[in-house]
Amino acid sequence: MDKLKGKVAIVTGATSGMGRETAKLFAKEGAKVVITGRNEKRAKEVVDDIEKNGGEAIYLIVDMTDLNEVGKIIDKTVDAYGTVDILFNNAGMLSLNPLLEVSLEEWNKVFNVNVTAALILAQKVAPIMKEKGKGVIINTSSIAGYAGHHGFAAYISSKHAMEGLNKSMAYELGPEIRVNAIAPGSIKTAMLDSAGGEEALDYIIQGCTLKRCGAPEDIASVALFLASDDSAYVSGQSIRVDGGYEA
Ligand SMILES: NC(=O)c1ccc[n+]([C@@H]2O[C@H](COP(=O)([O-])OP(=O)(O)OC[C@H]3O[C@@H](n4cnc5c(N)ncnc54)[C@H](OP(=O)(O)O)[C@@H]3O)[C@@H](O)[C@H]2O)c1
Repeated sequence: MDKLKGKVAIVTGATSGMGRETAKLFAKEGAKVVITGRNEKRAKEVVDDIEKNGGEAIYLIVDMTDLNEVGKIIDKTVDAYGTVDILFNNAGMLSLNPLLEVSLEEWNKVFNVNVTAALILAQKVAPIMKEKGKGVIINTSSIAGYAGHHGFAAYISSKHAMEGLNKSMAYELGPEIRVNAIAPGSIKTAMLDSAGGEEALDYIIQGCTLKRCGAPEDIASVALFLASDDSAYVSGQSIRVDGGYEA
């Protein structure tokens, strides 16, 4: 308990899945949490749940495909809580179209949500963290950021781009700001369900040494490690949380 006491944390894409579990865990550990997403009903439910359990949180409705709106997340967080200590770039969208079929519109949308929004937020939050002399950014990659697969070119490309952005952030934002990425494998969320669920991804699960899908909580606990001083000497890493998948 209290690993994030007094900290202000932003978790993007916290209306469901791993973002939601992470927001709840950060709040339980004492952080004031700003959650973002597009679905107001689910956003409100997450905030209500956090408050019911004695935590503090607000939500901001922002569509990350609209890059003009993304930076406002930092402004509004500072308005509400005075500062930002932790930024978890978690919001993401899947694209299931193969290379020859993906439209430029979809490609751009995927890159805006999965990569460019994280860049904009980092550019905006870095001066605040640097002035404080301390801050943490956590990015969300994927095992799709390490290898090619057939069938979802925009998503795979965006996660490879995130791997590069994560390294660039770590090099250029240190020494004050620690930057790391989480690279999930198959985690039981709405996104996994939209990709056909556990059955469709059985080949990944069978390829894991742990032979099961992950849960959002498996990501939240690693995010807490990276957000807290428990990882004080960890930066520039991409940590696979994939049940031991080899690809
Ligand atoms: N699940 C997996 O197996 C897996 C594996 C590797 C990587 N990941 C990555 O993990 C992250 C979290 O995914 P998840 O599995 O937890 O999926 P999820 O349950 O579908 O959650 C995705 C979150 O992103 C938000 N989001 C999506 N598009 C958005 C947009 N245009 N504007 C603002 N917010 C948006 C959603 O909010 P709203 O619906 O409210 O807009 C939601 O809160 C993503 O970056 C994903 O690529 C997931």
